[in-house]
Amino acid sequence: MSSLSEVVVPNIGSKLQPQEALVALFDDFLRLREYSMLLAAPLSEEDCVVQSMPDASPIKWHLAHTTWFFETFVLARFEPQFSAFNSAYRYLFNSYYDAVGERHPRAQRGLLTRPAMSEVRRYRAEVEQRLQAIVLGPDYPAEGVELLQLGMQHEQQHQELMLTDIKHLLSCNPLKPDYLPGTLIGLSVASELCWHQFDASVAEIGYRPAFDGEFCFDNELPLHRQFVEPFAIASRLVSNGEYLRFVEQGGYADPAFWLAAGWDWRCSNNFVHPLYWQSAEEGEWQEFTLHGMQRLDPDAAVLHLSYFEADAYARWVGARLPTEAEWELAARSVSGLRRDWFGVAWQWTSSSYAPYPGYAIAPGAVGEYNGKFMVNQYVLRGASGATPEGHARMSYRNFFPATACWQYSGIRLAQSL
Ligand SMILES: [Fe+2]
Repeated sequence: MSSLSEVVVPNIGSKLQPQEALVALFDDFLRLREYSMLLAAPLSEEDCVVQSMPDASPIKWHLAHTTWFFETFVLARFEPQFSAFNSAYRYLFNSYYDAVGERHPRAQRGLLTRPAMSEVRRYRAEVEQRLQAIVLGPDYPAEGVELLQLGMQHEQQHQELMLTDIKHLLSCNPLKPDYLPGTLIGLSVASELCWHQFDASVAEIGYRPAFDGEFCFDNELPLHRQFVEPFAIASRLVSNGEYLRFVEQGGYADPAFWLAAGWDWRCSNNFVHPLYWQSAEEGEWQEFTLHGMQRLDPDAAVLHLSYFEADAYARWVGARLPTEAEWELAARSVSGLRRDWFGVAWQWTSSSYAPYPGYAIAPGAVGEYNGKFMVNQYVLRGASGATPEGHARMSYRNFFPATACWQYSGIRLAQSL
């Protein structure tokens, strides 16, 4: 997060916050923190330590890192006589903030058998208590509110990552464990696919406080215009059943549908179907879910696709992925924040993750939140079933490298008219 001055925060008209607004904000903060612990509750202590791949982090690390964020960017700044809970955590739980200093290598987070989970729980509780004292104490400044809100949005992002990382971890276990019965399965998109058509227009793209809620990240700013050629966009996501035809009719065997880098990625990883699919001997397809192995539901949205797979499928059906401007223009016109646009799968766009015209990175460590990642990644729009309640909005820009497939990422097709 950067450009904190541009972040819209409610009730900031004066230097000091009305006490009731701060009490309500802190209640939200505590509920949000509790949700992180609820996500960890079905897991064993061992589940919380292991790192299944460099891109995924152990649950214990997520719980500590989100706390480190509040300690570093709020407590250290605003608490009189601040002293660190444990000075080693500055190194252990810094994710990527160069301005904060050296950090433990990302790929080795799974080696952190210490501190123990019990110590991380103590860390969380102490930071929450100390935050309460300053946030609800005298003269907590507006800038502190902005940073607290940023930390809350940051923890929500990690809550989604906790679910995607748990899923990946459990999928690596031959026992194919059940994380929680009934979790995140059966998100049906079965309905007739129709195309929403749009004439050429100058679209306003970016965060609009009146429509998009009280908060945005800096990468959603500033609001700007983009010319959009005539296009059509699908009324729903691509389903498992539709994607299965691509799989069974040789989509993964024909380089004609793939970007060159995508074909290299497919071949070197030997992908012949989506990440969590499994072809059974009797010919019944199965899919690993947070509820263990399940029969592949043809009516559910296809999930966990890389950009390369999404792009190849779109070519195979004679369509393409939408640009993010097309996606946002359409979502604002037709979605009404309905499920399918928000709440099933993040939707790959063909737009590179780049700054909007006029984007500015704020000085200091929090300026490293988004801006420095604006290269070699693609934008995903919408939100998934793993996205925490209240975290999605029309202008939200998620981003991942083209190879990432462990996120809840799917396809909404588009075509030029
Ligand atoms: Fe983080």
